[in-house]
Amino acid sequence: MLQVFSPAKINLFLKIIRKRPDGYHELASLFQTINLGDTLDFHLASHDELTCSDPSLPTDENNLVLKATHLYRKKTGIKAGLKVHLNKYIPSQAGLGGGSGNAATTLWAFNELVGKIATDSELQSWAGEIGSDIPFFFSSGTAYCTGRGEQVCSLDPLQTQSCWIVKPRIGLSTPEVYRRVRMTQTSIPFDDLSTLNSFLRGERSYFNDLEQPAFEAKPELQDLKARLLKCGFETVLMTGSGSAFFCLGRGRPPSDPNLSSYVVQFLNRTPTNWYKKN
Ligand code: C5P
Repeated sequence: MLQVFSPAKINLFLKIIRKRPDGYHELASLFQTINLGDTLDFHLASHDELTCSDPSLPTDENNLVLKATHLYRKKTGIKAGLKVHLNKYIPSQAGLGGGSGNAATTLWAFNELVGKIATDSELQSWAGEIGSDIPFFFSSGTAYCTGRGEQVCSLDPLQTQSCWIVKPRIGLSTPEVYRRVRMTQTSIPFDDLSTLNSFLRGERSYFNDLEQPAFEAKPELQDLKARLLKCGFETVLMTGSGSAFFCLGRGRPPSDPNLSSYVVQFLNRTPTNWYKKN
């Protein structure tokens, strides 16, 4: 049995560049993994089977874990199946990449269990076929992602920063948020490499072009952001397509039964190891 940690991610900035003819949006985003995550138990078996600690999550073929096992067999030609138990801690519909991280972790673990048939960079390029955010997880944990998100440039770890993740009960669907993007409302002129370089030099500007469309879909999210800013945080930003926020600075989220709050740290991995919860 192999037990593996599957981290969540946040987007420190996310710029929408344009809408593409295939319906996807071209973006430029700085992704960072955090030490909030799920654990997955893997066994080789004669057929695939997925169970989950959260009975509300689908464990059928729509789950990205099973999409990943199918993809791995298709690419490598191996016949084995994989039994997976998913212990879920990352909230869903949050923009935290929980499902994408699970898929990446499954590809990595399947490959370990059958004797490393594929390289990490092969796994990374295959992963883009089943989801735009999955290739990122094969980076160091800090990466500049472009295209649909699947073009990944791994970076050196940022200075460890502790932050709060705050997730309201309401969730958001990624396609719905992208559908509401209006290019006239996205952040002002953007020179991607200079934005990245300034960020890496320490002139940190946190922004997310998906916030406005998410606030239009669920106006209560804008109220939550204002409320969190009043709690003393310097930065409060929605991650990905929401509905979770990350909060940086000295504040503390309100205690409210409608909010789940987690104190987390940035997490990175070395090229030969998968992520480990610290
Ligand atoms: O790639 P993934 O399956 O995660 O994308 C889910 C949906 O999010 C897509 O069908 C698309 O509607 C939207 N999306 C997008 N542009 C991206 C990533 C996702 O429009 N770069």
